[in-house]
Amino acid sequence: MDWGIENRLSRLVKEDGRCQFLPIDHGYFQGPTSCLEKPSETIEGLLPYADGLFVTRGVLRSSVPSNTSTPIILRVSGGTSVIGADLSNETITTSIDEVIRLNAAAVGMSIFVGSDYEKQTLSNLSQLVNQCEPYGIPVMAVTAVGKELEKRTARYLALSCRIAAELGARIVKTYYSPEDFDKVVEGCPVPVVIAGGPKCETELEVFEFVYDGIQKGAIGVNLGRNVWQNRHPVPMMRALHAVIHNNATPREAQELYHDLSKKG
Ligand code: 5RP
Repeated sequence: MDWGIENRLSRLVKEDGRCQFLPIDHGYFQGPTSCLEKPSETIEGLLPYADGLFVTRGVLRSSVPSNTSTPIILRVSGGTSVIGADLSNETITTSIDEVIRLNAAAVGMSIFVGSDYEKQTLSNLSQLVNQCEPYGIPVMAVTAVGKELEKRTARYLALSCRIAAELGARIVKTYYSPEDFDKVVEGCPVPVVIAGGPKCETELEVFEFVYDGIQKGAIGVNLGRNVWQNRHPVPMMRALHAVIHNNATPREAQELYHDLSKKG
């Protein structure tokens, strides 16, 4: 691996081989999502605890202090909305010049395997890898399912993750599946990080699936709503840090969450 790409990846994935990314990119197709109405306010308290921040160029320029030392993963796919015909009809929104100008540590984009726009989104990924690799910029592929959350079976996720890696993604972000998640990770020759999906009922549920996902080989998370839609986002972020970086059990993380929440 070239020094540049290795250096960027080492800023995102810590020495223990683990990472905790914070996605604040939901507005790119959902608009002012609950708890992300003012992205700068959501980002401010959480930024020091994130190993990487996943945002669009618009939120980066408007809502993130330019002196941050947190590496940025730039969301570079989009062009659809929740009220449009098909979320999978995405294009690449951001040029390589912009990616370099914004000093991104990596870029992230979605693929929609099995959708009407499968070929288009896989071609987006291939083209993006072609543009980014000469500059040492890693591409993170997001195995997206749009509104079809029921698609998130291990079989489907394994297929999507493997295709993303084969086309050149350096990291793949995918959903956790309660069954056979180890097969998803084992079938993917590049590191896998877990996305959260809609907010869970309890904190313990979140700690449990993150813990299990990591035991089964994921290197970390890219967890959004289950952090910033929580009543206590910073304690949630810090408790997840303990699971990811200190191998805390779900119960230990829950205790830490409660202690930190009480302290305010
Ligand atoms: C939105 C995304 C998000 O980054 C991803 O879904 C993770 O966020 P959450 O944990 O809220 O699902 O790609 O398009």
